[in-house]
Amino acid sequence: MAVSSLNERIIQCKKCRLWQDSKQAVPGEGPLNAKVILIGQNPGAEEDKVGRPFVGRAGKFLNKVLAANGINREEVFVTNIVKHLTLQNRVPLPDEIAACVPYLCAQIDLIKPKVVVLMGKIAWQTPRRDDILFIETVHPSAAMRFTKMRQRFEEDFASLAKFL
Ligand code: URA
Repeated sequence: MAVSSLNERIIQCKKCRLWQDSKQAVPGEGPLNAKVILIGQNPGAEEDKVGRPFVGRAGKFLNKVLAANGINREEVFVTNIVKHLTLQNRVPLPDEIAACVPYLCAQIDLIKPKVVVLMGKIAWQTPRRDDILFIETVHPSAAMRFTKMRQRFEEDFASLAKFL
């Protein structure tokens, strides 16, 4: 499927309840030939406002860790397992994840990256693909708050540089 029709389907999606309380879907962004895909949980309020992933506090932290490892945010594809905001930033429910995950699988199949970084336990539910390395790390919001998690996050991103 072409990326434009995939994005259109995501933008129009009403397969679960989440569209009702959000301003817009956030499909994700980045080059279609990206070697690395970064996957978070779902957009927050800032992302919902502008329609782009990881533009709030967690996104600024993520950009900093990428830059510290010589990785340009523009060279990676960034998205979420769930494409709509959840109210009060609650964890997406299993049926919401199940409804949304085919879009993520289609994005992975279209981009065919070398590595997929799953940020946080919800993103760890992403179905795996052969011939792609899946790295499970913590969510940047947790890495911002807890030293141990920050260390793990920084180590995992340091290991990414060799794929770019
Ligand atoms: N947290 C996420 O998991 N995704 C975003 O896009 C922003 C914050």
